[in-house]
Amino acid sequence: MWQIISSLLIYYLFRFAIFSKRFVKVTKFSTVRHEVQQGASSGIGAETCRVLALRGVHVIMGVRNASAGACVKAVIIKEIPNAKVDVMVLDLSSMSSIRNFAENFNSQNLPLNILINNAGIAFAPFTLSEDGIELHFATNHLGHFLLTHLLLEGMKRTAQETNIEGRIIIVSSDSYKLTYHEGIRFDRINDELGYKSILAYGQSKLANILHAQELSKQLKHEDVKITVNALHPGGIVTNIMRYQGFLDGLVATLGKYVLKNVQQGAATTCYLALHPQVRGVSGKFFVDSNITEVKSHATDEDLAKKLWDFSMGLIKVQMTS
Ligand SMILES: NC(=O)c1ccc[n+]([C@@H]2O[C@H](COP(=O)([O-])OP(=O)(O)OC[C@H]3O[C@@H](n4cnc5c(N)ncnc54)[C@H](OP(=O)(O)O)[C@@H]3O)[C@@H](O)[C@H]2O)c1
Repeated sequence: MWQIISSLLIYYLFRFAIFSKRFVKVTKFSTVRHEVQQGASSGIGAETCRVLALRGVHVIMGVRNASAGACVKAVIIKEIPNAKVDVMVLDLSSMSSIRNFAENFNSQNLPLNILINNAGIAFAPFTLSEDGIELHFATNHLGHFLLTHLLLEGMKRTAQETNIEGRIIIVSSDSYKLTYHEGIRFDRINDELGYKSILAYGQSKLANILHAQELSKQLKHEDVKITVNALHPGGIVTNIMRYQGFLDGLVATLGKYVLKNVQQGAATTCYLALHPQVRGVSGKFFVDSNITEVKSHATDEDLAKKLWDFSMGLIKVQMTS
């Protein structure tokens, strides 16, 4: 009898020891961190904010709809009363809004460890942004590109001062495979002729992966302690299909039986933001929290450099005009 009791005791002590060691490790790793997350007012982004706040991260939500952001914040605070969550207005399709956000954020001199570029639109009819750029490219890529550019110095400073690795996470999609045949239509980016919303979405998601690779390469070259990775979150029922009335309804009705829920959809982002396992891993594409090979057009270094120069040209034109 005593033998059984002592075996059980040893077993549970052992299990507790493993659990508490893991728990302490993750908590310790994350408590001092500060994060900017855009596209946080719904779907995967809202869930990612909740998880990071739960881990003790000070979350700054960049949202274009302040009241939607305030609702997400209220839900998080209700669940986690001591969560540190702030809401700031940010429209990723507008370069002046991005510059206002960055100026405002940078003037607060907050440390910045994690940047999550999550905002996105999909399958929208042909539209030009207020800066005259095709809306998928403007929101899903150029907005992320400009925001990252404007927050990067602060991230570098934080990484150096705190000696904690900075992490930039770009939420891309498996749809990068479905792009225009030239990959990125540099010379016809704003051309309505030949526009297909599915390809425009794919093009912007390819740009996310190329952006992650090129930035990661540059930061490695500078020996900066910041990693950059892109990811596909999976298929999840969110508002992402909002431009596709009938399909949106169909996905919302049937999707819950076959697609991931938002918790599962946010898992890879949270893993990349917080987990010690990916310390030092950069320039990769993740699916289901695993590094995944991408098609050759998404590893094309020349294309990535060309996109970098092209994007720099677009943000500089806007900055000087
Ligand atoms: N759901 C999927 O199956 C799936 C699959 C692959 C990749 N993804 C990617 O996952 C990311 C998150 O999407 P989701 O599924 O969570 O969709 P969602 O519920 O529609 O969330 C998208 C978020 O982006 C924000 N956003 C859109 N345009 C913006 C702008 N101009 N400025 C600022 N914020 C803007 C939205 O804000 P509002 O609420 O104000 O519109 C919303 O918070 C996207 O990048 C998407 O491409 C999703």
